Amino acid sequence: MKCKFCDKPAFIKLHYPKMYLCEEHFMEYFERKVKRTIERYRLLKPDERVLVVVSGGKDSAVTAHILKKFGYNIECLHINLGIDEYSKKSEGYAVRQCKKLGVPLYIVRVKELLGKGIGGVRTRRPACSYCGLTKRYIFNKFAYDNGFNVVATGHNLDDEASFIFNNLMNWNTQYLAKQGPVTPAGFNGKLVRRIKPLYEVTEREVVAYALANGIQYEMDECPHARGATTLEWKEILNQMEEKRPGTKINFVKGYLKKKGLFEVELCESELRECKICGMPSSGEVCSFCRFWGLEKPMDFRVKE
Ligand code: AMP
Ligand code: FES
Ligand code: ZN
Ligand code: ZN
Repeated sequence: MKCKFCDKPAFIKLHYPKMYLCEEHFMEYFERKVKRTIERYRLLKPDERVLVVVSGGKDSAVTAHILKKFGYNIECLHINLGIDEYSKKSEGYAVRQCKKLGVPLYIVRVKELLGKGIGGVRTRRPACSYCGLTKRYIFNKFAYDNGFNVVATGHNLDDEASFIFNNLMNWNTQYLAKQGPVTPAGFNGKLVRRIKPLYEVTEREVVAYALANGIQYEMDECPHARGATTLEWKEILNQMEEKRPGTKINFVKGYLKKKGLFEVELCESELRECKICGMPSSGEVCSFCRFWGLEKPMDFRVKE
């Protein structure tokens, strides 16, 4: 098959809208879509300092690549989670991705910082649960300590659709009140704004864009089999997408329109300053300081 716009052979068949595109026209299409997401949801202003959090995987690598290509002022942060070989490999990918892009990369290693890696703590909590809280805290505190305006993650359309689907199926309506392409700043700047530039592109499109740009990335799943259920929801949505192209994007856009329905469910409890670190917390001590048993705040300021 030929490209819809030129004589070159097709590189990819898109299902929604249905068309064949060559490599060059696919890249153009993908970049236009991400640019439109950034504009539509006002994710970024031109001269803001952006911290892209890179896991070594495809989504965050593509996020860094495309924001750099658009001319944004980006720097990257990788968190080495201390999950043996998996984390070593992931860090290696993150280092090579950033080197190729020519952007600064900071690395925070959980084992060096907190004594134990993810999976190495004796607790009843599943690894992915305290992994999530640890990552979110470090992204935010690192950005705050170093004066970044915004944190960009690699979440794509499939991640968002499966998150919403999962939380609807379980009626976790409190989580449905605050999802979206942008989480605004708050708490006197101590909650740094978070954005998801790949919000409207599918995982399949991200894989194709990475391939077209020679971006190498970690393909293995985390050994803690993070979110086995998330993968199941993704599969169901993919089956629906195949039968009815457009299912995922229409589901997510519909959610954004109706999100207000869940807002009454937002927990009204006031945030206050964590007694240990001073960051926003719903209790006296925040979940990060509590889980890791901290007695003084962590300082992520990068020494010049
Ligand atoms: P996940 O929760 O693993 O699906 O990851 C969602 C996003 O969080 C990724 O696209 C990255 O932007 C970021 N992220 C996940 N793990 C790491 C990590 N170890 N270091 C830095 N950023 C990460
Ligand atoms: Fe966090 Fe696997 S437990 S990435
Ligand atoms: Zn073409
Ligand atoms: Zn704290």
